[in-house]
Formats: sequence, structure tokens, C-alpha cells
Amino acid sequence: MMQTKKRKILVTSALPYANGPIHIGHLVEYIQTDIWVRFQKMRGHRCTYVCADDAHGTPIMLRAEREGITPEELIARVKKDHFRDFSGFSIEFDNYHTTHSEENRYFANYIYKRLRDGGHIVKKTIVQAYDPIKEMFLPDRFIKGDCPKCGAADQYGDSCEACGATYNPTDLKNAISAISGAKPIERESQHHFFRLGDFEGMLSYWIKGHRVQSEIGNKLNEWFAAGLKDWDISRDSPYFGFEIPDAPGKYFYVWLDAPIGYMASFKNLCDSDDTFNFDEYWKKGSATELYHFIGKDIAYFHTLFWPAMLTGAGFRTPDAVYCHGFLTVNGTKMSKSRGTFIQARSWLEHLNPEALRYYFAAKLGSGIDDIDLNLEDFTQRINADLVGKVVNIASRCASFIEKYFNGQLSSYLEAPDLHGRMVQRGVDIADLYEKREFSQAIRQIMKLADQANQYIDEKKPWVLAKSPAERQTLHDVCSMGINLFRVIMAYLKPVLPQLARASETFLKINAITWNNYHTPLLGHYIAPFQPMMTRIDAKQVEALLAASGSDLQISDAAAVPEAKAAAAPFQGEPLAAMVDIETFAKVDLRVAKIVAAEVVEGAEKLLRLTLDVGLDERQVFAGIKSAYTAESLVGRLTIVVANLAPRKMRFGLSEGMVLAAGGGGKEIFLLAPDAGATPGMRIH
Ligand code: 2FM
Ligand code: ZN
Repeated sequence: MMQTKKRKILVTSALPYANGPIHIGHLVEYIQTDIWVRFQKMRGHRCTYVCADDAHGTPIMLRAEREGITPEELIARVKKDHFRDFSGFSIEFDNYHTTHSEENRYFANYIYKRLRDGGHIVKKTIVQAYDPIKEMFLPDRFIKGDCPKCGAADQYGDSCEACGATYNPTDLKNAISAISGAKPIERESQHHFFRLGDFEGMLSYWIKGHRVQSEIGNKLNEWFAAGLKDWDISRDSPYFGFEIPDAPGKYFYVWLDAPIGYMASFKNLCDSDDTFNFDEYWKKGSATELYHFIGKDIAYFHTLFWPAMLTGAGFRTPDAVYCHGFLTVNGTKMSKSRGTFIQARSWLEHLNPEALRYYFAAKLGSGIDDIDLNLEDFTQRINADLVGKVVNIASRCASFIEKYFNGQLSSYLEAPDLHGRMVQRGVDIADLYEKREFSQAIRQIMKLADQANQYIDEKKPWVLAKSPAERQTLHDVCSMGINLFRVIMAYLKPVLPQLARASETFLKINAITWNNYHTPLLGHYIAPFQPMMTRIDAKQVEALLAASGSDLQISDAAAVPEAKAAAAPFQGEPLAAMVDIETFAKVDLRVAKIVAAEVVEGAEKLLRLTLDVGLDERQVFAGIKSAYTAESLVGRLTIVVANLAPRKMRFGLSEGMVLAAGGGGKEIFLLAPDAGATPGMRIH
């Protein structure tokens, strides 16, 4: 295969805060990044993945205090835990550092001084809430009180969890300090601000270079329209962070030195590996590539402040910032109080980490949509795809190779066309990985696994094995199956590094790369087959949930007891009156995304759905309550008759009709959440 030019790529994931454990919500990002990095490495590029713990800020300072240890002790312990958890999921950093490091202090000071000397720092006196007992200024999250809009008690200083309102902490009623319980007073202090507006021209030019996804681009335009505001980059003592060089008692706000941690981690790598050159990657006009993978909630920091800071300090800017959405579990937002924050550690104790890597890959696209971990779907999918399809190809063939042919593959390729076609698919699959369209890549790969299984089904080695006269055919067919397995494992390797490694051992081959899987293994000896992946048992998932203190059921159906009875075989209904094609063509069918779903008080069968039909959002009542809980529908796609005249129903206006087919009960079908369609897409 043609060898492409070797690229030098530096990749980062967001730096996790050093005050809490890694949970599966975090893992979406690290798994996404790791897959992309592993893919680039398999392609032969020099791709370097750096990360670090985000060690500064008030929450970390206060947590250490509560635990009776120093912040340094806390962050050292948490860093070890983070690194151990990441390793458990095969997330392979080329360097993992901390923002509380000398490299980071150096670059934070350097960048600050360059910005200051360039006239981009201004000092302003501001009034903030102050805790007179604890003697410190209070960040918004450390002030609690009654919501100024709805009156809900015990709300944080920035937003209300009950009604969703956002406000200033000074608007809260009956405010108290969450640290000491004291009534906050107002106090003045001088702060340092970064003049983001100085970089408006540079930023709008930077964004035009395809640096961000379209959804983020739209958000950025809104931010530009609202005006780029000065950014407060200082905090008063006591604070755990770096003291500002020319302002004793003032510290850099954690968000100033956090992204600088990307550079610091890379510098730390350069210091231990002289094949890396810091300037080659960070100097202005660098020919290397730089990508940041982050969650959509921190886009402002990475697409405005960060490129502006880099430019102001004379460094290069990122080639792109890739945002992803949030993770929901069984259709609901993860929540500490509900116990749905499943920690990475618990997962590792109960389930195979590669199963999560695979499931996330099967759900991830290049956009910023949230992804859902539906635990029942997860279990079925791993068992069906990985155990039932992929590993099955090898296990169906290997025993014959071992038993009759002493572990040696045939020197003849039974179906070169099929092998050639599968190898050829690598071009498209690589393209999908490159574009972060992992779910599409997985779909393609599973189609190949189906074809390989179909090949084995047709050739029936278990029948051939019964007849000594068919020995050669048996040899050729099983060897062909093993060769197809190898191609498929090459494609899955970025997602499933451990399964790939087990396959390499089984096949007795060197590490598979994107450049060495094309020629078939002929006359080659393989090792005896060992089971490489075991089925997931629902009990493991239940044990994980129990360990996480969750009251979730693996199956949403468990919450719908009548579903079983309703799922009796479909009897068929008499056909409705015929419609001619012209009449049918008037029906405007669109893909719609269910953005909200709720039960309708007093209605036995109805759910009230809020649908995103591409152009607008509308309310539709659907009689599918017997098959779905409201929560399980959120985020899924369906097809809607978009031009049905609105109907006034007893419970409100229904502005369309959801199409669902089947016998009722559990057999009502909507599209899968990752069906590859976007809201508004017209069905013809
Ligand atoms: O949001 C967070 O979890 C931050 N700790 C991410 C920092 S990313 C980078 F800027 F360091
Ligand atoms: Zn409220």
C-alpha cells in the first residue's frame, strides 16, 4: 500500500481535575482521543498524546483541607489514581504530567508577561462575595441560597437546579457561604483581566480555517455578536495555584494555567526524550499539527481564550479543537445524587474495559451530540458484535487448523477476491477514523465480519471435516477464515488494543499496522486458539450498578411489566384503504430526534414527545407508552409525518405523528439512536 507522508501530530485531551475520580463520563473523551491517536500511530505517523492532572483551584484547596492533608499530597494521590484508571482502559499517553509543575509555572509566567508587555492585561477593581469567617473570596459555586426566580432553597450561586435559571451570586436570597455557613459580605479587590477583545480579528480569522465543528462555529458567532469580554485571570489568596509574578498575594486563576498544562506536559516529555523538540511543535508557524479533544462545555476556553493567549505570547495556535457531547446512562443525565456516576474503577472491577471502548466507538461521531450508554443495548451489542461475530470467526476456524493441520495455514488463498475486497475497504475505514466518524467505521467493520461469517456458513467447515477427501478444502477454507479475521482485527485495533494484541499472539504475527495487513498469511503457523473475549452477563452489569449505588435497572423494559404480555406474536391487521402515489407523495416524512419525553397524566398509552424535526421543535403525542419508558426515548431518532395538520387532543395540541411499527408492546420500532440520520432529513 502507498505510504503517505509521515505527519507529526500533537494531541491532547482535557486535563481532569485533581479532586475526584475518573468516571465513565470522562472516559468518552479519553477513549475517543486514544482511538484517534492509536489510529494515527498505526498509520505510521508520529502522533504524540499528552495530558496532565489539572491541579489548581479552590475546590482542590478546600478538599485537601477537609482531608487534613496538603494540596500537594492530595494531587499526588489523585494523579496516581487517575493514571491507574486510564491505564486500565488502555488509554496510552505519551506523557502524563500535572499543572502543578515547574514547567507549567515557567510557561504560565512567560505567557502572562508576554501578554502584559503586549498591553493585553488590565487591572480593575471589582466587588465580590467574601466569607468573613473563612476570610476568603467565595467562588460562585461556594455560595448557596434561595433561587431568585423560583425560590427553590439550597441553590448554587450561578444557577438553579430546580428551574434552570442562571444569575449572579449577589441575586441569591438568604445567601450563605457553603464553606462556613457565614452570610457573605461584599468586598473590593483588584483583579487582572486579559483583554480578549484585542484578539477579535485574529480569532475570527482562526475560526474560518475549519478549526471547529459547525455547531461550535455557530456558538462562536453568537459569542462574537455578544462582544468578547475581558477575562478575569487572577484570584486572591488563599488559593492553590501559581502566584502572579508581579502581584504578590494574587494567583493565576486555574483556567489560565490549565491549557498551558498541555505545553508543560509536552515540555516535560521533551526533557526526557531528546527525539522531541519543543519549538518544532509550539513555535509560531510550526509545520507540526496540534489538536485538542474536549467536552463541548469548555469550548469557550479552548476556542477563544486559548488561541488568543497563544497568539499574544507568540506561539502557534491549534489546528483544530474537537468537541464531543456528554454521556447519559439509560437515557438520563449522570447524577451523583442518583448514583449514576459510574467510576472507572468500578467498571474495571466488574466489566471488560474494551467493551466500553467498543460501545463508545460504536456511538461516537464527529459531532457534539450527547451519547447514551444504554446498558441493555450495551450488553447485547458486545455479545453480538465482538463475541458472536468477530472472535467467532477465529474460533470457528482455529480448532480445525490445530487438529488436522498442526497449526499451519494453507499456502493457498481460497477466495482472493473476498480477501481483496476486504483489504480494499481499509481505505474508507481509514478515512472514517481520520474524520472521527467512529460509529460509521464500526458499522463498516461489522459488515465485513458478517461477510466473513457468511463465507464460513456457506463453506461449512464442520461438514467438510467429516470427509477425509475434503481435507484440502477444509484447510483452505479455515485458513481463509483466519485471514479474514486478521483483516478485521487490523481495522478494530485502534478501538480494541488488547483484543488486537491477543489476536497477534494467536496469529503469531508482529504488531499489526495499517501498512502490513494486506498480504495474506500463507503456510504460516498460528498458535492454539484461546478464548479472547467472554460474553457479558447481565449480572455483571447489575453488580456494577449496585456498586455505584444506583437504583437503575439494566433494562428499561423491567419498568414496563405489561410489555411481555403485549409482545405476543403479531397477528396482522386487515389492510387499510389503498392510496394512490400522488396522495402518498404528499406525506412529508422526516427524521426527528426525541429531545424530551414525558408521561401524560391520565392517559394510559400516551407519551408527550418533544421532537426536533430539523427546522423546529414540536410537541407530538404518541401511543407508545407500553413499549418505552419516557427516559429511554430521549436522544433516539424516529420518523415523523411532519406535515400532518395539528390536532387538538384532550391533553394538548399534537403537531405531527410518530411512525412506529410492530405488534405493540416491546415490538414497536423506532430508529436506533445511532442510525446515522440527522433531524430534518426527508425520507423518500
Ligand atoms: O473542565 C475540566 O475538567 C477542566 N479541568 C479541563 C481543563 S482542560 C485544559 F484546559 F486544561
Ligand atoms: Zn429556580
